[in-house]
Amino acid sequence: MSDLTHAWHHGRPKLAAALGDRLLAHERIAMFGPRQTGKTTLLRDEVIPYVESRGCLAVYIDCWMDMDDPLQGINYALQKALDGLTVKPRGLRRAGSTPVRKVGVMGASLDLGDPPRRQTPARPALALDSLLTQILDETKRPVVLVFDEFQSIASAKDGPQISAALRAALTQADRRIGAIFSGSSDVQLLDMFSRASTPLYGFAKTEGYEPLGPAFIGFVAKKFREATRRDLNQALALDAFQELGTQPEPFLHAVSLAMANPKWSLADALGEMLSLQSPNKWSATWRGLTGLQQAALKLIFDDRAPTSADSVAWAAARLGTKVQPSSISRALEALGARGILQRKVDGRGWMLIDPVQRAWLRRNPEAAIKSAAPGY
Ligand SMILES: Nc1ncnc2c1ncn2[C@@H]1O[C@H](COP(=O)(O)OP(=O)(O)OP(=O)(O)O)[C@@H](O)[C@H]1O
Ligand SMILES: [Mg+2]
Repeated sequence: MSDLTHAWHHGRPKLAAALGDRLLAHERIAMFGPRQTGKTTLLRDEVIPYVESRGCLAVYIDCWMDMDDPLQGINYALQKALDGLTVKPRGLRRAGSTPVRKVGVMGASLDLGDPPRRQTPARPALALDSLLTQILDETKRPVVLVFDEFQSIASAKDGPQISAALRAALTQADRRIGAIFSGSSDVQLLDMFSRASTPLYGFAKTEGYEPLGPAFIGFVAKKFREATRRDLNQALALDAFQELGTQPEPFLHAVSLAMANPKWSLADALGEMLSLQSPNKWSATWRGLTGLQQAALKLIFDDRAPTSADSVAWAAARLGTKVQPSSISRALEALGARGILQRKVDGRGWMLIDPVQRAWLRRNPEAAIKSAAPGY
């Protein structure tokens, strides 16, 4: 959305070093934080370069790379790291250990060929263990594994088996490996590491990701001043950033609108960015819903019991048609399937996932609900 996220990247070297040092001390950390708040950026752009600068081999593993089979994705990343260790840049096998290829026996010579390479087992769970062993054999350096989008293991059909395989593989070398498991669902990640019956129970220290905060706002205000010679009110900017769920991308988009329009304050820019009239993804999301889904979303946003008699009567009046509580329940399920709502931690009731969609609903209370909508 906004190029500023790259041009105005706000580094957090202290935070990266603190996490990196713990990983270098072979800690295992489960770090969860809301969507789009900068977890991957912190890990990839700061923590990994930090541990690498300390002589460590870091492997970034996107557990969502193969959504149907996360373990294959993990193994793929490990295989790539192993190839990086064993293959020279020009594609030659590394000759670090100077293997003896030919031996002469009484004038005849015997070709021993390439040194035997360990076979990676076909079964993915065993392959994981084997790949890790091969990596540890190939390098003397400490290893840091960064598992991103780790919540996808929780939702994979063979999640417990993958967790068990990971635990077994990582335990074999716990004095050489540090690992961080990062993801956006606190519910799923906490469940994986804190429920006694799960394979990863107690395996990593669980903690919240530290979102960007006032220091980031100060950094943006300074950049804004340099670019426009105008001041950004930092207190209001921090409020706006929080309203957007501490997501840098929509926030910096609003800032870029304020930069491009000299008469606009950040509040004006935010109002424009989230207005029903302007083309934006939150208005598009709203327009893409059926009337019943819009009504159900409003009920959740307003914190009302969505299937109570009152709520059902309200929805019927807005839609201009009869409504059953079960229709509202189905609409809520559909909003869940579309990634707009998620179930609350206690499993009772629903909540909005995207804080920016929430901000959009707050700013557009009069957004029209489709009447007698198709799909009802
Ligand atoms: N420190 C930062 N300074 C400026 N922009 C940032 C910073 N960190 C992240 N961003 C921007 O915010 C957006 C989201 O970042 P990122 O993908 O790292 O978040 P995430 O928490 O991993 O998201 P997801 O939950 O979707 O995986 C990106 O556009 C990124 O460039
Ligand atoms: Mg991410």
